[in-house]
Amino acid sequence: MRLSDIKGHWALVTGASSGIGHEFAVQLARAGANLVLVARREERLQALARTLEQEHGIAARVVALDLAGSGAVDSLRAQLGDAGIRVRLLVNNAGAGRWGRFEGTPAADYERINALNTTALVALCRGLFDDLASFPASAVINVSSAAAYQPVPYMAMYAASKAFVHSFSQALHGEWKARGILVQTLVPGPTESEFDDKAGAYESAITQRDTPQQVVRASLAGLDGGAPVVAVAKGTYKQRFFAGLFPPAMVIREVGKMFKPK
Ligand SMILES: NC(=O)c1ccc[n+]([C@@H]2O[C@H](COP(=O)([O-])OP(=O)(O)OC[C@H]3O[C@@H](n4cnc5c(N)ncnc54)[C@H](OP(=O)(O)O)[C@@H]3O)[C@@H](O)[C@H]2O)c1
Repeated sequence: MRLSDIKGHWALVTGASSGIGHEFAVQLARAGANLVLVARREERLQALARTLEQEHGIAARVVALDLAGSGAVDSLRAQLGDAGIRVRLLVNNAGAGRWGRFEGTPAADYERINALNTTALVALCRGLFDDLASFPASAVINVSSAAAYQPVPYMAMYAASKAFVHSFSQALHGEWKARGILVQTLVPGPTESEFDDKAGAYESAITQRDTPQQVVRASLAGLDGGAPVVAVAKGTYKQRFFAGLFPPAMVIREVGKMFKPK
């Protein structure tokens, strides 16, 4: 699928109320896509939808939903069906994490991270398959993370959930490519957004961040090139290189030092 194919068709972006998802909505509207915007903060989504409609002459629908809740994806699909919307591009971007010692976070928070980062992402791929397969070319963008390249002490659950996305998404590309569905695994490095504040981030070795604009530009350019994996930050290349070069125990020890709470 080329980016220009999305003009006049529907793209669904999860986590569109801030950060990388908000920027996906902006750049896709610029490309002429109609948008389904999904997240929990409805007012933000409505404001974004109206702005993009006015600026780009596209149609935008808001679905305010907690994707970590049970039955959320079924409810979303039902709303798309009622509105007669067929999705040609799915951006599985909504995600959350938690910094700090594993035992410092309630078990229920981990269940929600898992439900959002993995279960909802899988359910959306499955639930929208018929839509995607009905086009000669269509695409899914699943947002992974540089945290997927190696286990990350003090972000154990988050890194594991992104390792899941990383594996699942590339495997799905292996299956769906022949059907004309590109499944892109997008690997941002540290990126400016609300993510760290919400995840309880503290001072760490991370000093440089990309902007959401850089991340989304790379992802959408990757659509044109048909790239199954788009790794954004220079840092992620370095990280992948070292993660593959040294023994896992050494890599985990060094990464643990980067993220250990003071
Ligand atoms: N920022 C980074 O350094 C970084 C690096 C690598 C990968 N990533 C990944 O990039 C993706 C986007 O994150 P971001 O950095 O843009 O963070 P962000 O600014 O916190 O955005 C997260 C988005 O997900 C939505 N969301 C969170 N929980 C939700 C739920 N239960 N149901 C529905 N929507 C929910 C949020 O909206 P509401 O709160 O309104 O629901 C928000 O729109 C995530 O998958 C993240 O793991 C981020």
